Amino acid sequence: MSSWELKSWRDKPILQQPTYKDQELLKSVEKKLSIYPPLVFAEEVRSLKKQLALATEGKTFLLQGGDCAESFSEFNADNIKDFFKVFLQMSVILTFSGGKPVVKVGRIAGQFAKPRSSDFENIDGVEFPSYRGDIINSIEFTKEAREPDPFRMLSAYNQSAATQNLIRAFARGGFADLHKVHKWNLDFTQGLASNKRYEELCDKISGALSFMEACGIKAENTPSINQTVLYSSHEALLLNYEEALTREDSLTGDWYDCSAHMLWIGDRTRQVDGAHVEFLRGVSNPIGIKAGPTTKPEDLISLLDILNPENESGKMNVIVRMGADKVGDYLPTLIKEVEKEGKKVLWSSDPMHGNTFKSSTNYKTRDFDKMLQEVKNFFEIHKSEGTHAGGIHLEMTGKDVTECVGGGQKISEENLASRYHTHCDPRLNAHQALELAFLISDILKVEKN
Ligand code: PEP
Ligand code: CO
Repeated sequence: MSSWELKSWRDKPILQQPTYKDQELLKSVEKKLSIYPPLVFAEEVRSLKKQLALATEGKTFLLQGGDCAESFSEFNADNIKDFFKVFLQMSVILTFSGGKPVVKVGRIAGQFAKPRSSDFENIDGVEFPSYRGDIINSIEFTKEAREPDPFRMLSAYNQSAATQNLIRAFARGGFADLHKVHKWNLDFTQGLASNKRYEELCDKISGALSFMEACGIKAENTPSINQTVLYSSHEALLLNYEEALTREDSLTGDWYDCSAHMLWIGDRTRQVDGAHVEFLRGVSNPIGIKAGPTTKPEDLISLLDILNPENESGKMNVIVRMGADKVGDYLPTLIKEVEKEGKKVLWSSDPMHGNTFKSSTNYKTRDFDKMLQEVKNFFEIHKSEGTHAGGIHLEMTGKDVTECVGGGQKISEENLASRYHTHCDPRLNAHQALELAFLISDILKVEKN
């Protein structure tokens, strides 16, 4: 294989990219970004990799989630805070029942660029280029709005930096203190079944904390009681942006993509000889690969060879997104092949992307029961193959949106219109996310016993 360089992806075939009209402007933005401060620090990335190595062995569990697409218009402290709260809630639910530490990775602080099934969008005979995420163009349906604008990369960088800053403050500044578990509850979930279940869990946690304090285990000597870490991640799709934020670590001489702790390759850009794989093979971050029904076992093995030649544990996360009805047909073969080749892989389940459909009311949606079914199938398959179901990957928000049907609130196809706010795919709302966390925690509990 030829040697890797920061720019070597530029000589490879590439899919899902914008065509910028003003190449000089593009170059000046890339130059600016390349001297801006990194958003994450290499040592943090190494810590995440160690945590993910433990998840690979079944000793920790990966909880990864957030918006399908972050947007400029929905950027405010309230949205970040509510997401953080529900993520913490899910994490204590999974930790308490599963008895394993949860590694928290947000689809946040950089999740802006979107692959699209079509290059153009047609509404009533009028056609414009597709929306590709706020880092590229605007969702508004006009010719001007859909024109890719390099300046948007700077806005995305600034928003990511401010988001990362607030997350670090929440994680370290007392917000994540386990004594505050009751306070993470969101008002609109009051009265619903999983909220009651959460309140009962909080009482148990408070009791356990009092007991531990009496034994001398307190925040002063055990920081994990009042601090946490929320790592960032996004799809490494817009390579101009990723290249500009990639730096050589002065301690090790290795390259890190400092736009996020973890990056993943989407189901549409994982071509073995393509630009995205070429770029990511050179960075030391943990890498996710989305695996859909069209993922051939031999291609997955080639990807693992290229992206992780040393077979380092914690480096590779295969994010399975087959759909509830297909996961049983395709996943066992992938697992068998990976096991046969002795590859170290953290398997996680994305029950969102293989279960999308158009509602009778014309909304892109997902059914809660189907998602739950895919997760259950995923766990069962791993059990019968003797491998670890190591994590979950979700599109979710802390808000009371109506984007996915079903769940305890019984959101119907008719209800979707009421609060359908996503810029791309439908997300679980905070209540559905809690509910799913409880159902996964029940599975983990059975596994533990
Ligand atoms: C996504 O995670 O938002 C996404 C586009 O997923 P996939 O590549 O699996 O379709
Ligand atoms: Co999505």
